[in-house]
Amino acid sequence: MSSSTVITNIATLVTNDPSLADSSPLGLIQDAAVVIDGDRVAWTGESSKAPATDNRVDAGGRAVLPGFVDSHSHLVFAGDRTQEFNARMSGRAYSAGGIRTTVAATRAASDAELEVNLTRYLDEALRQGTTTFETKSGYGLTVADESRALRIAAAHTDEVTYLGAHIVSPDYADDPAAYVALVTGEMLDACAPHARWIDVFCEKGAFDGDQARAILSAGKAKGLHPRIHANQLSYGPGVQLAVELDAASADHCTHLTDADVDALASGRTVATLLPGAEFSTRAQWPDARRLLDAGVTVALSTDCNPGSSFTSSVPFCVALAVRDMGMTPDEAVWSATAGGAAALRRDDVGRIAPGARADLILLDAPSHVHLAYRPGVPLVSGVWRRGERTV
Ligand code: NIG
Ligand code: FE
Repeated sequence: MSSSTVITNIATLVTNDPSLADSSPLGLIQDAAVVIDGDRVAWTGESSKAPATDNRVDAGGRAVLPGFVDSHSHLVFAGDRTQEFNARMSGRAYSAGGIRTTVAATRAASDAELEVNLTRYLDEALRQGTTTFETKSGYGLTVADESRALRIAAAHTDEVTYLGAHIVSPDYADDPAAYVALVTGEMLDACAPHARWIDVFCEKGAFDGDQARAILSAGKAKGLHPRIHANQLSYGPGVQLAVELDAASADHCTHLTDADVDALASGRTVATLLPGAEFSTRAQWPDARRLLDAGVTVALSTDCNPGSSFTSSVPFCVALAVRDMGMTPDEAVWSATAGGAAALRRDDVGRIAPGARADLILLDAPSHVHLAYRPGVPLVSGVWRRGERTV
């Protein structure tokens, strides 16, 4: 029989359990306890009613919330882009072209170097409370380099995304149609076995709406589910295409028309906002308030990558979303947990309720609100992943 642990004396427990929701979507329980049995949550409730278990952990009047679900990152890469960031902070604009720098460094790296780099950022993210993460290819852009990126990622997560359509490979600069044929043909065949998702960067300087539709449709025909980089740098067709194809998520959503917002509100596609990207590119903030008021499901993720958003910190993104994107602290915490799970079409993570995976964060603060109230402070003081205490 698996051993069980009770965490007692929790000042605020965030469950994201809709049956407990009152004025907050977070399903809060005050003075709470959680029982973990093996890799699952077995019980939640008031501390005084907690059942006896093998082990007992005293939370000491601190807050417990679900592990963060980071549904958008690009962690299989080599090198960095410090000079590009420096130039941007002196006034240069961000463009898709910088991706080529990371493609060259990634192609030149060994499997072992990519693995070491990936593990380093995963450890960093775990220490900041991320217990589920999605990650993408997109810095290889050849059949061999894209498939090895996915193979390396798949050893660490089930949420692996084929992004051969990040930009047109520099090798095909004169013939983008031939590159789209490769991405939807031989490269897709090699990559599909290692991935769950297919993504495309739909943007000026990357892929237009017709190319994006062709790429995502080819992926769907191979059993991959679509998600999309949409409307990051300018208005465009990406968001409406996402809804048309029932993509799990449209990511960035920085430049939206009313028709884009209406489309998101009418479908199941989650709007994943990535404030680290706007922070690091000095761009306008996505308007989370507008989306939430329209009834759109919003997720918050890091977009961790060496070009546009070199942060692995979900707490940092939560603080930005509250300060600059019109979210309440409750909404931002929901979006970084249950919202991320929705963007990955998962219901086993992003919540603390009987049967859910025992992925929990212990904060060195009495409530989840402190994530935004105390920005930049390392408040994550304990992490359980699949029932194992890892931090
Ligand atoms: O999500 N927008 C496209 N892809 C990444 C940036 C990648 C890079 O600049 O290396 C993003 O922001
Ligand atoms: Fe991205």
